[in-house]
Amino acid sequence: SSVGIIGAPFSKGQPRGGVERGPDLIRAAGLLPKLHELECAVKDYGNLAFEEAELDGPEGVLKNLKAVGGFNQRLSQAVQLVKKDGHTTVMLGGDHSLAIGSIHGHSAAVGQLGIVWVDAHADINTPLTTSTGNLHGQPLSFLVKELQSSVPVLPSFSWLKPCISVKDLVYIGLRDVDPGEHYILKELGVKMFSMSEVDQLGVSRVMEETCDYLSSRGNKPIHLSYDIDAIDPTVTPATGTPVVGGLSYREGVYITECLRETGRLSAVDLVEVNPLLGKTEEGIQSTVSMAVDLLLGCFGRLREGNHPSDYNPP
Ligand code: ARG
Ligand code: MN
Ligand code: MN
Repeated sequence: SSVGIIGAPFSKGQPRGGVERGPDLIRAAGLLPKLHELECAVKDYGNLAFEEAELDGPEGVLKNLKAVGGFNQRLSQAVQLVKKDGHTTVMLGGDHSLAIGSIHGHSAAVGQLGIVWVDAHADINTPLTTSTGNLHGQPLSFLVKELQSSVPVLPSFSWLKPCISVKDLVYIGLRDVDPGEHYILKELGVKMFSMSEVDQLGVSRVMEETCDYLSSRGNKPIHLSYDIDAIDPTVTPATGTPVVGGLSYREGVYITECLRETGRLSAVDLVEVNPLLGKTEEGIQSTVSMAVDLLLGCFGRLREGNHPSDYNPP
């Protein structure tokens, strides 16, 4: 398989500095050579540059609307080019607001998608339900067709048409959902496996049901949006909004192995790695190497071992 990497060193969807260093840190941990070992053809498209939006003062509670809207428009175009080159895209974040451009561009290039959103958070606040005003807590509200009438028209997002159905969305790992989000999830009947279901069913049943559900929706190309805070903060402390009680290292990797198995993984976001919030060097290293291992799981690394197709035994 061939991988097209896009760096999105973007942090304006939330207030903490440092998350813009994610892409370079994940590369520095050896992502590219490790993907080569798996016989992936890799093209690194580099980091997407962006301009500082002028006069980007808050509008009501909403922060950095112009910066987030403008950046995601460029991101969407970049993803469309990488998809047209025939790659599975890997979007290295950056904060989770980048899912707006990543999913929009993916959908513009390939059509209807199945979305697997692995996260402690639902990230489906609307500009009206958000209490923080941070756009990394709202990306899905802009993307979901069924919420179009609940999202006010914002000039910075006028380029964006909702492109996914809530019926093609599956959540895994939820454990910090705001009341307004919970109302939306219940009202729209969104498929979700919170940490409670992971406890009840185990990760293997969760993935079996996730894949069955996506098949029942027509085996669409899969967009995996993986927030590193889905993983337990004992493993991945270097992130902006850590929440206790998360996925273990093994559960986190298993999710990627199963999605790889489908043969339909078409785009992956890996977001919210923030080295300035790790407290210790070990905490930062552990967070970054988790990010790398999740991506390797997406592209064929097996815990049973791998060997190249041209391997010659001695
Ligand atoms: N629900 C909170 C909010 O809307 C937290 C969102 C955290 N999102 C994230 N991508 N880490 O602000
Ligand atoms: Mn999160
Ligand atoms: Mn998130």
